[in-house]
Amino acid sequence: MKKVILATALAMFAAGAVQAGPPAPKTQGIESKDYKWNAQEGEKIEALKLKGDRKRGEEAYEVCGACHLPSGAGRPDGTFPQLAGQHTTVLIKQMADIRAGLRDNPTMYPFAATLTDPQELADVAAYIEQLCIPPEHGKYEGKDADKQLATGKDLYEKECKECHGANGEGVKDKFYPVIAGQHYKYLL
Ligand code: HEC
Ligand code: HEC
Repeated sequence: MKKVILATALAMFAAGAVQAGPPAPKTQGIESKDYKWNAQEGEKIEALKLKGDRKRGEEAYEVCGACHLPSGAGRPDGTFPQLAGQHTTVLIKQMADIRAGLRDNPTMYPFAATLTDPQELADVAAYIEQLCIPPEHGKYEGKDADKQLATGKDLYEKECKECHGANGEGVKDKFYPVIAGQHYKYLL
């Protein structure tokens, strides 16, 4: 059954057969009179209040695994991000944003749209959060990797650590994503 669902999702994706159109992307910019980057409203707020059920979330995740892989590892070529270990708050926000057209993601939209209600958002987020971040991920493979890493570490500590944490662990209740272990090409 699982294989059939995955194969169907991929076949639909490959054939461009998924016709459900995503909502037109919002164009106001991240902070405007009409839109705040993380306004506490809509199905996101409903989902955040609910307790996710991992068992039901595992079933809901089957279709997602076709792109993000069953392990939640994503792909080293950067096409599909790692999801494993991400905070439930971030997962719920991103899914709700994609469903509402606040984050433009036409590839995933038809699949995000199949999640039925805030409870299912909470369930699938609870399942994904407890998946282990895989140790093997897409890394920088250019020249001077050591030098790049040292420069990158300095920059990270100056510009990013304040929000994403000393180890890229993010901050759950502020919706700051885990970025540790994310594929280099997706980060780019
Ligand atoms: C057809 C492929 C595909 C399927 C199926 C799919 N996604 Fe995605 N997803 C993507 C792509 C591509 C992105 C990244 C888009 C971008 O670069 O902004 C993404 C991004 C995400 C993000 C944001 C991750 C981040 O790091 O910001 C979340 C959360 C997510 N997907 C969850 C899911 C869930 C849950 C499902 C199942 C209901 C699912 N996806 C199904 C392709 C897919
Ligand atoms: C003031 C806090 C803050 C700082 C500083 C910050 N970020 Fe972020 N970052 C965020 C928030 C909040 C989000 C999620 C935005 C959203 O939900 O739309 C985010 C999202 C991201 C994402 C997307 C994650 C994903 O899974 O899709 C990446 C990658 C990222 N930040 C990297 C960085 C890097 C690298 C730096 C330093 C150059 C940095 N951030 C500095 C708050 C911050």
